[in-house]
Amino acid sequence: MSKAAKLIYDGKEIELPLLTGTENEDAIDISKIRSETGLITLDKGYKNTGATTSKITYLDGEKGILRHRGYSIEELASKSSFTEVCYLLIYGELPTKDQLDNFEHEIRFHTLVHEDFKIILDGYPSKAHPMGVLSSLITSLTAFYPESLDPSRSRKLVDLSIVRILGKFPTFAAWSYKKRTGHPIIYPDNSLDYCSNFLKMMFALPSMEYEPNPVVTDALNKLLILHADHEQNCSTSTVRIVGSAQSSIYPSISAGINALWGPLHGGANQAVIEMLDTIMNDNNDVDKYIKKAKDKSDPFRLMGFGHRVYKNFDPRAKIIKKAADNVLDKLGVNDPVLELAKKLEKIALEDEYFIQKKLYPNVDFYSGIIYRALGFPPEMFTVMFAFGRLPGWISQWVEMRQNKEPLGRPRQIYLGETQRDYVDIKNR
Ligand code: MLT
Repeated sequence: MSKAAKLIYDGKEIELPLLTGTENEDAIDISKIRSETGLITLDKGYKNTGATTSKITYLDGEKGILRHRGYSIEELASKSSFTEVCYLLIYGELPTKDQLDNFEHEIRFHTLVHEDFKIILDGYPSKAHPMGVLSSLITSLTAFYPESLDPSRSRKLVDLSIVRILGKFPTFAAWSYKKRTGHPIIYPDNSLDYCSNFLKMMFALPSMEYEPNPVVTDALNKLLILHADHEQNCSTSTVRIVGSAQSSIYPSISAGINALWGPLHGGANQAVIEMLDTIMNDNNDVDKYIKKAKDKSDPFRLMGFGHRVYKNFDPRAKIIKKAADNVLDKLGVNDPVLELAKKLEKIALEDEYFIQKKLYPNVDFYSGIIYRALGFPPEMFTVMFAFGRLPGWISQWVEMRQNKEPLGRPRQIYLGETQRDYVDIKNR
């Protein structure tokens, strides 16, 4: 007998079927609740509501488990490459060598962008935030590839749109940075691997030879893998709901970029570094800021601590903390902010207030420290998060379209005025 939940309401009783996932998590399927009872459910922020089923990522917030297509984040971060994880997320299986070589060749073939994109870029003031520049450049891809607007035409066309955005995203990200620094843009160098090519476009200058440091390239691969997907987070849910209207992949991902920009989501890594810099510039007075974080009347919040899903630790933070130590050591970077971060972490992990509120370091707490050690400025940290999340957004958009999911259209409970008559302005 299939499992069910009973809803008793207004003297009536209905059964609601249960759906059990492959990891034995149960959900009450409420698809028929309104037609059978007239009721809707209310769950602001969807904290208890599943929006879909998916085969891409599994995470267990209690046990700190994160897997992509069944492979643990620990194994992928230590043994895989970012392009291989992109393939895994999008196509569901680890690629053979030929498949990966072909995938990487296709991506390299699309790293160059139309020269007219420089005109769009020149339209921005130099201090424009790179996330805003990036989201508009990604949407503008539809102007250059109008055939991408109807992705249902063929899987071949969707695959072409996928390698185009994987190829051009790093170019756009690097160029949005160069726009900010006022340095000349650097064109893709397809003799390099995916991450090295991006680093060269980011940091090379026409007047100098640029040799990517393998320590930096390895660290970047790991960081991007750690951010590759995270089931139905805010930006991925945004990509899915925009895609559910049959918007094509570029505007759907551009919407995801804008959702990720928020300081409560991907913008947290930039906010962490800004918080650490504030504490450092205030005589490193960690105790003062711990007190402020506990004071409900104080607007100060500890950024990079706690997580909506993980209840004990964020598995990515454990990996990234080790990587931070390793990278700074290998690069000979002595960043006092890392020492401050470790001091803050130690206090937070031992203080009853933070333990009780499950406020422990999440992936954003350390990522900014590594990105800074790798030479990225704070305003590029969220761009790096978006770069890592790109394959996750793509895979979730493809899955949603392949499953022919319905248009996303949540309901509401109305709390406004009941009906009233119009009053002419002279009588108000
Ligand atoms: C993410 O990786 O998207 C963040 O941890 C936020 C989330 O999963 O809600």
